[in-house]
Amino acid sequence: MKKPQFIELHHTDHSRVRDELLCGLSSPAAHTSPKYLYDALGSRLFEAITELPEYYPTRTEASIFALHSEAMAKHVPLGATLVDLGAGSCAKAASLFNRFVPSRYVAVDISVEFLRNALDCLQRRYPALDMVGVGLDFSAGLTLPPEAGDPQADARVLFYPGSSIGNFSPDEALIFLRSVRTACSTQRGSGLLIGVDLVKGTAELEAAYDDALGVTAAFNRNLLLHINRLCATDFFLPDWHHVGLFNTTESRIEMHLEATRPVTVCWPGGQRKFALGERIHTENSYKWTLDGFSELLHHAGFEARRHWTDPAQRFAVFWAGGQ
Ligand code: AVJ
Repeated sequence: MKKPQFIELHHTDHSRVRDELLCGLSSPAAHTSPKYLYDALGSRLFEAITELPEYYPTRTEASIFALHSEAMAKHVPLGATLVDLGAGSCAKAASLFNRFVPSRYVAVDISVEFLRNALDCLQRRYPALDMVGVGLDFSAGLTLPPEAGDPQADARVLFYPGSSIGNFSPDEALIFLRSVRTACSTQRGSGLLIGVDLVKGTAELEAAYDDALGVTAAFNRNLLLHINRLCATDFFLPDWHHVGLFNTTESRIEMHLEATRPVTVCWPGGQRKFALGERIHTENSYKWTLDGFSELLHHAGFEARRHWTDPAQRFAVFWAGGQ
């Protein structure tokens, strides 16, 4: 049996994290990066969100793969290197192994520690598959290490499911997708398989990001507990209320935390006052149209584009071929 290989290319610099967070909190329009939503509890709360009746993206995407993976496999070359961006538990990619039959699986996530257990288990199910776990922050652009295989020799299929692309603004998404296009190999058949959440009615969108059980509210408010640990701030949860709203002009869901009374937040060496009703902007989740996203892929340099959707067109999976 083969053994997974692990490479750590990401090292968190705690003082930089603190500076970035406190700088965002101190700016006139307070904001934080969505990556801080995912501490251990935040990751579990997100898993719980995917089970909510109102949160349609995860199950809709799964239904698209269940129905159309055979059609998708006509575009994905056999024996390719499958590169899973934001792999986590590796479950989504693993469910496609029997259909796409890759020769190498490269799981990329922000921390290689998330990947160890999942890849060790997967290797037992697929003993002949070459597996590589890479700890890498690809949010500012994707550069793969040599262990991800020789892009001149093997076709590469990049896999970016879950509509994680929605966290990027359209400008950032274009830059990111250009780096993905470059990471695709020059081999025929290389490309990107990506899940994208689509524009729909405001009521349906807002319910998905402000559910009746309050799990999304807990997910958003847990950010404050994480920041208290990272920055020694004194955020007090009862002072903060979850807001999830659809901004139709920007075509994005916005998550905010809103002060329920006048609040002063203190940390070693600083403080910030918030008025009643003042907000901290914690996440954007952009929603695309089919045409808009196809255009974006074209601008990023992908020639052949195909997509599959569910009957209600809530979500889409795009195949974008390199040539
Ligand atoms: C993980 C970024 C795809 O935008 O739907 C879910 C995160 N935020 N509920 C999304 C999220 C609130 C999710 N993504």
